Amino acid sequence: MKKKVIAVNRLEQEVLEILQQEVDITFFTGITSIENQAFITALKEAEGIVGLALQVNDALLDLAPNLKIVSNVSVGYNNLDVDALTKRNIMATNTPGVLDETVADTIFGLLIATARRLPELDHYVKSRQWKGDLTMDYYGTDVHHKKIGIIGMGRIGEAIANRAHHGFHMEVLYHNRSRNLDAEHTFNATYKELDALLKESDYVVLMTPLTPETEGMIGAREFSLMKESAIFINGSRGKTIVETELITALENKEIAAAGLDVFEKEPIDDDNPLLKMSNVVTLPHIGSSTYATELAMSQLACDNLLAGLRGEKPPNLINETVWEDK
Ligand code: GLV
Repeated sequence: MKKKVIAVNRLEQEVLEILQQEVDITFFTGITSIENQAFITALKEAEGIVGLALQVNDALLDLAPNLKIVSNVSVGYNNLDVDALTKRNIMATNTPGVLDETVADTIFGLLIATARRLPELDHYVKSRQWKGDLTMDYYGTDVHHKKIGIIGMGRIGEAIANRAHHGFHMEVLYHNRSRNLDAEHTFNATYKELDALLKESDYVVLMTPLTPETEGMIGAREFSLMKESAIFINGSRGKTIVETELITALENKEIAAAGLDVFEKEPIDDDNPLLKMSNVVTLPHIGSSTYATELAMSQLACDNLLAGLRGEKPPNLINETVWEDK
């Protein structure tokens, strides 16, 4: 008999079809909490869950007594309570690597869009306000040859540093839990303590994963350290910053502008003041979302899932101790 698997929210159709050949799969979309009765029923028998954009915690795991593996289609796994999974001997996996260049493209695009005010100018042209010579009211800020401070120099941070150094001749500063000598060598990147990076950078780019240590790491104090001309880019998670304090910093002109792919609450609330700020460029958490990369992430998640179900070690196992205990 085929093993029962739940696919939830995020999995490309092509991969779903491949999975169907090996497992008995039920696909749910639009699941944001564990209130859907059919979903709860499916959890009872499921040995694997793939996809997600859903919190996996004790409340969900209590409903899933047969679960062996949770395969997240994303590199960030702050939606998984890894301790709870590990205690129950359930494997957790994510999809690192395949999205690095795509996310770096998005984040660099967001940086340029914010610096050169591209969405605002697009609106200016399309709304037929462009009637004559441009005044300096519409000028932007240079990106090339400026200083970029990358917080979180993992693989995606490196792909951003590559664009900054080789493409835009920027000076690269970075802050990370540990020194990244490869980045120092390849992108001439300089390690800085966080405060020094914040003080010196023209562009502050936040790329850390959301963990208990990074939650709220950029707030009022950190914004006040940045230059008044600084542009802040968040490509990590909404909760790595204190969003209300970003809003205050922008209102008080402590920093010049922000480009945001992630928000404290997603989708963003209608009355969020960020939506009214012309110096804020917003994206709907779309960093990795090109068709090719979403497909590659789904495929990798599918490989992780099937390996785990077969009793093999999944290529991207997060909680290694579950494997060591086997
Ligand atoms: C996207 O945000 C991811 O973590 O993959």
